[in-house]
Amino acid sequence: MAILDKHKILETNATLLLIFSFLVVTIGGIVQIAPLFWLENTIEEVEGMRPYTPLELAGRDVYVREGCYVCHSQMIRPMRDEVERYGHYSLAAESKYDHPFQWGSKRTGPDLARVGGRYSDDWQVDHLRNPQSVVPESVMPKYGFLERKMIDGKYIGDLLATNRMVGVPYTDEMLENAQADFAAQADPDSDYDGLLERYGEKVNVRNFDGAEGISEMDALVAYLQMLGTLVDFSTFTPDASR
Ligand code: HEC
Repeated sequence: MAILDKHKILETNATLLLIFSFLVVTIGGIVQIAPLFWLENTIEEVEGMRPYTPLELAGRDVYVREGCYVCHSQMIRPMRDEVERYGHYSLAAESKYDHPFQWGSKRTGPDLARVGGRYSDDWQVDHLRNPQSVVPESVMPKYGFLERKMIDGKYIGDLLATNRMVGVPYTDEMLENAQADFAAQADPDSDYDGLLERYGEKVNVRNFDGAEGISEMDALVAYLQMLGTLVDFSTFTPDASR
């Protein structure tokens, strides 16, 4: 057949074969990937998702700065051993406000996608101070210095604004109140109604490290304690029609 004869030209010319293979792979790649950028339903909307509060976002910054992701992923895969150990598999929507995302497969320590609420604040602080005091065989480094590093929240508005620039839906009101919300979440005696109004009733308002002032420890524990707690999996059913 004529077309097969033409194909012979490709098969006997390495350079041509390489060029055409590249073309085919490119077209295939575009067909698979490009629609995801335009489809509304690439990320299924899930009830309960909200942007991080200013304090949580500051904690997330500490998490990224300290390289916690080098040993911890935040991505529970839909495999039985993982689901039994960590809980419901991670949904795309659960990391839609993450910049940068914390997916991965490097697990020197356990996955942290649903660590929120699993331990008390005291446990988290003790563990971060000295992991070996609660888990003797742990290889996790000590992060006690975070308690002494205070954050005044001066730049927290800028941090929210930066996240808004890359697509996190922070409102003007959230930006204006960033510093107040930041302080309110770490002080249960403060007036935190505005914070709950903007971010939801479920926001944890506590003195996370139990010490005066807002330290990086407060922020980091606030972040850890909300991980994986936003979506209510007792009522969530995946939408299979999508
Ligand atoms: C060198 C690797 C390493 C680094 C870096 C590291 N961890 Fe860990 N982490 C571990 C290991 C191993 C464990 C399991 C033993 C334990 O609980 O200490 C663990 C456990 C944990 C746990 C308890 C999880 C659970 O489900 O029991 C939390 C929370 C945690 N790490 C948070 C952090 C945070 C936050 C940081 C960054 C400030 C961090 N880790 C940095 C190795 C690491």
